[in-house]
Amino acid sequence: MNAPKVTPTVPDAQTVLGVKHYTDRLFSFKVTRPKTLRFRSGEFVMIGLLKDDGRPLLRAYSIASPAWDDELEFYSIKVPDGPLTSKLQHVKKGDQIILRPKPVGTLVHDALLPGKRIWFFATGTGIAPFSSLLREPQTYEDYEQIILTHTCRNKNELVYGENLIQEIRHGGIMSDLVGDKAVKKLEYYPTTTRDPSNQMGRITDLLENGKLLKDLGIESISQETDRAMVCGSIGLNTDLKKIFERFGLKEGANSEPAHYVVEKAFVG
Ligand code: A2P
Repeated sequence: MNAPKVTPTVPDAQTVLGVKHYTDRLFSFKVTRPKTLRFRSGEFVMIGLLKDDGRPLLRAYSIASPAWDDELEFYSIKVPDGPLTSKLQHVKKGDQIILRPKPVGTLVHDALLPGKRIWFFATGTGIAPFSSLLREPQTYEDYEQIILTHTCRNKNELVYGENLIQEIRHGGIMSDLVGDKAVKKLEYYPTTTRDPSNQMGRITDLLENGKLLKDLGIESISQETDRAMVCGSIGLNTDLKKIFERFGLKEGANSEPAHYVVEKAFVG
């Protein structure tokens, strides 16, 4: 006699509320937020799906929505042979995903000492934690100037960030939360490395050759004024750390706040 087929129940299940595909490599989706989930803007959680054997397959994903939002947004790469993203890219409204409600991370305001200017350096899907932090009122309360740099290979990979900036500047919610004047503190510096665009080049090169600072009218980066958060590939993170250290900035952590923090963007 065959054993009856058991459909595994999804532990820590949340329901997909919507999915948006940007390119054949990028998509975002929103899920319900567990009522008990508290997180700091910039943190990540483990999310995933059940494998065929009924066991969970989880990866760390930055929460792209701000801490005040009722829904949780995620921004993801699609890797054709990636164990999770090859399946996750097909989720639809009404599907369930697993979300472990234990947020953690270093890209949080608590890991930085007070400063005047905050830099968010992102490549690819590394923009996700900054999507959260750029909609976090504390960012506008704590800093006089807020700069987001986003570098992607191609122009169509910048669209998620362009939409985010458009929403912050003109969507009305951030003006209601922090006021029009505060929203004007935000500067956006998108660059591409492969497609021709208005601003081309790796952000590391643009920072080292002085172009980024010149374009923004900033004289230099210093321990007294500048704070930075970085989210990208290991290569970007390592290269930027070296540049920051030359400017005299020190790496911070939740336990010991300093001048900059880095986190690896999810890549597979
Ligand atoms: P490049 O096209 O020169 O490799 P990916 O899509 O591979 O995650 O890369 C996202 C962006 O990050 C690309 O524009 C890529 O530039 C850039 N990038 C990758 N590694 C570094 C690095 N070490 N320093 C600066 N930019 C980097």
